[in-house]
Amino acid sequence: MQLRCRSAFKLIEIDDRYKILSPGDIVVDCGAAPGSWTQVAVKRVNADGKMEGDPKGKVVAIDKQHGAKIFGNMDFTAPSSQQALLEHLQGEQVHAVISDMAPKASGVRDLDNENMVKLCYSALRFAVQITRTEGVLLMKMWQCGETKQLESDMSRFYDNVRLVKPKSSRADSTEIFLLGRGFKGLERK
Ligand SMILES: C[S@@+](CC[C@H](N)C(=O)[O-])C[C@H]1O[C@@H](n2cnc3c(N)ncnc32)[C@H](O)[C@@H]1O
Repeated sequence: MQLRCRSAFKLIEIDDRYKILSPGDIVVDCGAAPGSWTQVAVKRVNADGKMEGDPKGKVVAIDKQHGAKIFGNMDFTAPSSQQALLEHLQGEQVHAVISDMAPKASGVRDLDNENMVKLCYSALRFAVQITRTEGVLLMKMWQCGETKQLESDMSRFYDNVRLVKPKSSRADSTEIFLLGRGFKGLERK
């Protein structure tokens, strides 16, 4: 498979190690363009049906840029985008929300970190609404003052939360992935 970009190797590495994607799973991919995580997810959940005999999964991808599968040109944090995703899922709960979203760098570190944190909380809030019990949230974050708080907030909803630094992520970058497994579920009234 010709991968659209090298980011794919980070998801491949994380999934090889933690087995977060299985045939038949439903996955929401946030910040998906140019689409290499989507390519990997499609293969691993068998959304293309190429693994005959295995259950067929589904990948719903969203990005602000054109080119992402299904929901291109959409800001994930906008309530209307999340509503469109929810409508598309028609009440189906997902196995995994994966987010490689990152804001456009402004060059002002504090501002960039703040925008990254906002993206992560937006993904977390959305994930807890649509994830099935025992499901997974994987999201990119930057190591900064807020990382610990985010990790601790995720722990309220996921049994097992860890920081993951794939080998394919540049050692000199602050990029880190937060992986939450074992979604505890929401008590619904
Ligand atoms: C590192 S790239 C993703 C690469 C992708 N995972 C792949 O493997 O091809 C980060 C993406 O996040 C997207 N993004 C950033 N903020 C976003 C937002 N608020 N809503 C949707 N997408 C966003 C950017 O447009 C960009 O395409």
